[in-house]
Amino acid sequence: MFYTPEVSDRVYFVGVKDHNRRIFDALIPLPKGTSYNSYLVKGKRNALIDTVNPGFEEELVGRIKEVIEVGELNYVVMNHAEPDHAGAIPYIMKLCDASLIATEKGAEMAMHYYNVPEERVMKVKDGDRLDLGGKTLRFLEAPWLHWPETMFTYLEENRLLFPCDFFGSHTAYGLYDDSEELIPLAKKYFGEIMMPFREMGRRAMERLRELEIEMIAPSHGPIIRNPKRIMEAYRRWTSGETTGKALILYVSMWGSTEAMVKSMASALTSRGAEVNIYNIANSDLGEIAGELVDSRGIVLGTPTVLGGMHPMAAYAVSLIRALRPPVRYGAVLGSYNWGGGGVRQAVEALKAARVEVVGSLEVRGPPSPRDHEKIDELGGLLSKRIMEG
Ligand SMILES: Cc1cc2nc3c(=O)[nH]c(=O)nc-3n(C[C@H](O)[C@H](O)[C@H](O)COP(=O)(O)O)c2cc1C
Ligand SMILES: [Fe+2]
Ligand SMILES: [Fe+2]
Repeated sequence: MFYTPEVSDRVYFVGVKDHNRRIFDALIPLPKGTSYNSYLVKGKRNALIDTVNPGFEEELVGRIKEVIEVGELNYVVMNHAEPDHAGAIPYIMKLCDASLIATEKGAEMAMHYYNVPEERVMKVKDGDRLDLGGKTLRFLEAPWLHWPETMFTYLEENRLLFPCDFFGSHTAYGLYDDSEELIPLAKKYFGEIMMPFREMGRRAMERLRELEIEMIAPSHGPIIRNPKRIMEAYRRWTSGETTGKALILYVSMWGSTEAMVKSMASALTSRGAEVNIYNIANSDLGEIAGELVDSRGIVLGTPTVLGGMHPMAAYAVSLIRALRPPVRYGAVLGSYNWGGGGVRQAVEALKAARVEVVGSLEVRGPPSPRDHEKIDELGGLLSKRIMEG
């Protein structure tokens, strides 16, 4: 017995909640697990919108069977080829004669990754419609959200958008977006997954203006009954709007660098900037990614280790480079003992991430009172830039 709620007229949630999963893409922490949302649209002909992660094939089938026999599926829509949504495609395709619907690039991936025979693949282009008999699907190309082949599917009669990863959040809890927690969760998810493709996301938001959207059914997390709230957040996040916030990321072995960044936090907050501080060695990457979505400033703190940045700081900088946040201004602080070099390397790395570094300070051992004064001055410069916008 499975609960397969009808979330909109003749649209059923047949996806899977994975409360056990703790890591995604071998990188992203999942403190609340995640879900692989799959939907069944019932017309005269039936379509399955996306599938589930490998390992959950039988649960998906069990859920579909609560509504129709799997053999009654006529179409499987693959909005995205990543295995968390397309992994059950080979299993499902064996149990029915359905055609697989995908973009041109998606079709090629389905054949390559999932061995779907060419004659069962139906390629669609932007704006194509599919009449299911009483239900009409419209396909919108939405590349790079999150891979090059991605598309959105819009169910016209229900004014319902299936955007796959876009508008998602990683949580196994909640069928609908009624919780206050949704926006913070969605923000972390945006930072981790969508932020590098912000420009493509902005274009997709423009496209969506032409649609009337009453419900959004993404492929991770709750179904959205109040699209206004998440769409307004996505409008800000995709356009790279930042606020007067500084994110301090640091690592410290013996406390000297930590003392420096604490001094910087005081310098910034006393001048009105909002400060969020994370020790890279013990923080959740999702929290950091979420803060990167709209922080205007960044402070990196690293001691010198073996002639360069601490490896945890190097990890943080490589993440910043990969996630491409809209952060504008930065500063670097660090401690050394005999030769230094960590701060210089961190400054170069931040510049390469297109951050304007307003200043840096490297001190020998623990910071002296004079060093604290210098940090305060640097904090003054940085907060000025951050507050001015
Ligand atoms: C494993 C290790 C490697 C280090 N390598 C260097 C180095 O190459 N050059 C240097 O100037 N100091 C080096 N140091 C010294 C630290 O940079 C120095 O103790 C610094 O004050 C530590 O800052 P922290 O208290 O923020 O950890 C090293 C220290 C450790 C523990
Ligand atoms: Fe994805
Ligand atoms: Fe996904």
